[in-house]
Amino acid sequence: MANNIALIGFMGCGKSTVGRLLATRLEREFIDTDAVIVRSAGRTIPEIFLEEGEAAFRDRESAALREAVETEGSVIATGGGAVLREENVRILRENALIVWLTARAEVIVRRTGHGVAARPVLAAWADDPLAHVLNLLGQRGPIYQRAAHRIVDTSDRTPAAIVNEIVRKLEKNQGTEKD
Ligand code: S3P
Repeated sequence: MANNIALIGFMGCGKSTVGRLLATRLEREFIDTDAVIVRSAGRTIPEIFLEEGEAAFRDRESAALREAVETEGSVIATGGGAVLREENVRILRENALIVWLTARAEVIVRRTGHGVAARPVLAAWADDPLAHVLNLLGQRGPIYQRAAHRIVDTSDRTPAAIVNEIVRKLEKNQGTEKD
């Protein structure tokens, strides 16, 4: 298995922020698949959803994940929906230690509230964000759970504290079995 670390989890759980910090701490390369997609498409994520459709975005996401795991030792921040395709979970599990970042639904609503326009999956739900986040968490939670090697709750913690906990969990158990 390549020595990558992949962060999965719902929008607003800190995958990008924590991933960047973790990569710096471990002196690894940081790859944010959403950023890779935006760069290669020359469009924002809402534009891709609107002009190409969600399936095309998901194709781009699979390609970005396949490319990311080729960079040995990288820390990879995935998009919140990356695990929706079984193929993506397989690519990640074969090539990375997978850390699932979680947060309570109210925390997710608070963290994503200002950035709803940038997240098409949340944009349609502005009328009752908490209900929609709870609904999606219900659908996606079991998928994150099955995919994850490690789980770290981010709800009441700073990014630095979250990184400390990830590093502690990585040091405690080097393998890819669940803890
Ligand atoms: C998505 C999450 C987003 C981005 C896209 C779709 C999702 O990433 O990939 O808007 O389906 O949950 P973040 O989790 O980084 O916001």
